[in-house]
Amino acid sequence: MANVKFHAGESFPLEMHKVRIIQKLNLIPIEERLRAVKEAGNNTFLLKNRDVFMDMLTDSGVNAMSDRQLASMMEADDSYAGSETFSRLEKSVKNFFGVKHFLPAHQGRACENILSKIFVKEGSIVPMNYHFTTAKAHITINGGKVEEIIIDEGLKIRSSCPFKGNIDINKLNAIIRDHGAQNVAYVRMEAGTNLVGGQPFSLENLNDVSKICRSANIPLVLDASLLADNLYFVKTREESCKNMELREITRKFAEASDIIYFSARKLGFGRGGGICTNNEEYFLKIREMVPLFEGFLTYGGMSVREMEAIAVGLDETLDEDMISQGPIFIDYMVRELDKKGVPVITPAGGLGCHVDAKAFLDHIPQNQYPAGALAASYFIASGIRGMERGTLSEQRDENGNEPLSNMELLRLALPRRVFTLSQVNYAIDRMLWLYKNRKLVEGLRFVEEPKILRFFFGRLEPVSDWQDKVVAQFRKDFGDSL
Ligand code: F0G
Repeated sequence: MANVKFHAGESFPLEMHKVRIIQKLNLIPIEERLRAVKEAGNNTFLLKNRDVFMDMLTDSGVNAMSDRQLASMMEADDSYAGSETFSRLEKSVKNFFGVKHFLPAHQGRACENILSKIFVKEGSIVPMNYHFTTAKAHITINGGKVEEIIIDEGLKIRSSCPFKGNIDINKLNAIIRDHGAQNVAYVRMEAGTNLVGGQPFSLENLNDVSKICRSANIPLVLDASLLADNLYFVKTREESCKNMELREITRKFAEASDIIYFSARKLGFGRGGGICTNNEEYFLKIREMVPLFEGFLTYGGMSVREMEAIAVGLDETLDEDMISQGPIFIDYMVRELDKKGVPVITPAGGLGCHVDAKAFLDHIPQNQYPAGALAASYFIASGIRGMERGTLSEQRDENGNEPLSNMELLRLALPRRVFTLSQVNYAIDRMLWLYKNRKLVEGLRFVEEPKILRFFFGRLEPVSDWQDKVVAQFRKDFGDSL
């Protein structure tokens, strides 16, 4: 946010853009919301958007685009091979990261598929600050094992640590010593570490990890999907980077990494993805896979319109006014909830506001999915859909045992530049009401449980009639309010 001070003292987020296209929203009555969540098997992924008021499921592919992005989409050059659009995107990506090679892919997990196929073998170890669901699934399916080596502070809900996404250097050294560098497929560093609350790493930590990887001859893979948030936090929280240009910081991230991949559904405010590297050997290996799984080398499964938008979006990512809007809104939401005692991850990260369901619903055992129950009850209370990020998002092991997640979170994503401050205030209001009435909420159990990525399309039911009680309390407190 630009340097604007307010005479009343406390500052609040100020948008440095104006809205020029709008989409009407629908808020259905609570009885209808109960029906909708039942039909969706208490899984917010299965809700129909027509029943949703604010869609805070994700920030992926739903960020508002700029006028310049929309204009660029009209210039797209639709050809299978050698399109001008690809040349523009390639130039933009290379310019952004300062890398030699760029290979397109249709989204982030497609990059994960390719990288896991190339690097991960039966028995490989892949240490990382923290897993992301799709990254882990691809590594596991190829016979590898994920080792989470985030600093201990990263898993604490309340903290003042500015870089909770850092890798613990001692843990990294121990893994290399215990398993041998030859068994480590690569080290994965995730920007804006998603599943621990959108928490950043510092440039200093990335450089330290890079030094160790290079001396052990292990590739360092940067997942740059949430780079925009991480970039903003490094610029505003890391003393040695305060006077650096965003471009310079981005280039330093890239110099420290051997391979970078990203979901352009997040980075670049579009829909697509890609992989970058300066290493010829990796480039050739990755290049072989792109036409096989994605599409020809000059589109990689993306629409040319989106490619144009990403090219411009990356450029706009280097504008602090553009990338600060997400983090300052999230910071506002986190602070307001925290002030009233609602357990949230602190400090505020990127991506969204993360509510700690373990503390919010401390009467619900983890095998009854407190974060899932919080997501379902919050939708009933507000018409807002968030995403469970806890035990439900884990996968059973080969023996059918269910690992309990380190954290039980309800993630309320703030798609960049989409919601207004009054909408965020509504989201806060309904969360405060639910917190007051939290003892009404009980657990969920599966009625249909898919083996892989079960959180996407599994169906659950409440363990009792607790959802009717939530509706009755709402009517008692709010009368005929929507
Ligand atoms: N890496 C990170 C850090 C992500 O957050 C995601 C997606 C991916 C990779 C995969 O990218 O969706 O383009 O295939 N995160 C979304 C989310 C799904 O809602 O957090 P994708």
